[in-house]
Amino acid sequence: MPKISHLYFQTGIIFLIIGIGMGLQMAISGVHNVTGAHAHLNLLGWVTSALFGTYYALNPAKAAGRIPMIQYGVYTLGVAVMIVGLYFLLQGNLAFEPLVQIGPLVAFAGVLLFAYVVFAPAKTRVSASTAAAE
Ligand code: HEM
Repeated sequence: MPKISHLYFQTGIIFLIIGIGMGLQMAISGVHNVTGAHAHLNLLGWVTSALFGTYYALNPAKAAGRIPMIQYGVYTLGVAVMIVGLYFLLQGNLAFEPLVQIGPLVAFAGVLLFAYVVFAPAKTRVSASTAAAE
């Protein structure tokens, strides 16, 4: 499996653990105030990351080069910034609003980069490092 697929699953499972933690916090306390952060962390952080990682695993030629790693970094950073902002904003900390504005834009840039990877022609030669990681 390409390194980037491992990275996506490693990041995704951490996001899921934190996302479920938020869900349990709400369920146990009965205060459902961070539903937005919980839902987006599970869906953008876990489900979408796992789908990106699966795509790269099924298409190792698309995992070659620098763009996929940039795509991973941009997307993951955007999701993390957005979720931190959303979690605290939903608890009434208005100072975190800028993170909720900037984070999603960065995550969306990561999604557009992924669209580029999907539509761009695959590299004909898989690099030695990518092949070794498979
Ligand atoms: C043990 C695991 C989980 C617990 C304890 C949990 C708990 C909760 C709670 C308490 C809410 C708020 C419900 C409300 O106030 O309406 C919620 C909402 C939500 N959860 Fe989870 N959750 C878990 C896992 C997941 C996972 C794995 C996903 C997605 C992959 C997910 C997606 C959502 C979504 C989309 C909502 C919003 C639903 C709505 O607003 O109608 N949850 N969850």
